Amino acid sequence: MHKIAIMTSKGGTGKTTTAINLGHCLALSGKRVLLIDCDSQANIAMAFDVSPKQGLAELITTGQVEITKVRPNLFLIDSGGKRLVESELVLAKQEDRETRLKRVLSRVVGSDYIICDCPPTINLININALNFCDHVIVPISMDFFACEGAKKTMELIEEIKDKIGHEISILGLLATFFDRRTKISQRTYDQLLNQYGDLVFATKIRINTQLKEAQAKFRTIFEFAPYSHGALDYFLLTKEIANGSHRLPVEVTE
Ligand SMILES: Nc1ncnc2c1ncn2[C@@H]1O[C@H](COP(=O)(O)OP(=O)(O)OP(=O)(O)O)[C@@H](O)[C@H]1O
Ligand SMILES: [Mg+2]
Repeated sequence: MHKIAIMTSKGGTGKTTTAINLGHCLALSGKRVLLIDCDSQANIAMAFDVSPKQGLAELITTGQVEITKVRPNLFLIDSGGKRLVESELVLAKQEDRETRLKRVLSRVVGSDYIICDCPPTINLININALNFCDHVIVPISMDFFACEGAKKTMELIEEIKDKIGHEISILGLLATFFDRRTKISQRTYDQLLNQYGDLVFATKIRINTQLKEAQAKFRTIFEFAPYSHGALDYFLLTKEIANGSHRLPVEVTE
């Protein structure tokens, strides 16, 4: 089971869009995928037009879990919306505040991939997600602030590794909102390659308004516009991850 957090401290870099479309593409390829929404914005449930009664909020406080099937092979644990903020306050007073998620999710088995969509902050829920996951995808929207956000996220991951000794690795830095018409996109991508080498995914997610439109229609890009650039880019990213060419060892399903 691969546990992947999609995280960076900069907002609006395509984290949720990546969680939804990478998750669905893996599911379409026959893998069992569980999406966990760690963000109180609860965008994933919105994107699939579902409203589960219980979410991560309840999972953290009571240990009860509600898993919603959103597509064949694709499942969701909702965040619980603003209840997650309240749970975080409760969690802050507990001794196991940084590792609770790992403990309560140890019962949730049977997925090939668990993908945690994280909020753009460095909060207790994100620390929990890092303690639970083995890998992190850091989406970078091809601008200076996004690069700085990525740097902070990578420092946080190093801190977690040092502090708790938990093995977590960067699966890849993902170029998002890539715009071929501007020099800044290519320049930023080249800088990332210079700095981080093969940690950077070869696949670039280009700007594609159909990715946005798909969400408004409660569809993934593979349902809404399967021949769009957005679908192609997320397909290539999925291939890069699933065939192990980008650092993730191919595993037999548990
Ligand atoms: N490649 C893309 N091309 C065009 N629009 C995109 C692309 N990726 C995402 N979007 C749109 O940009 C907006 C922000 O994307 P998204 O919600 O995935 O970012 P996020 O990093 O999850 O944001 P937050 O930090 O608020 O959680 C959404 O409206 C989404 O539909
Ligand atoms: Mg998001």
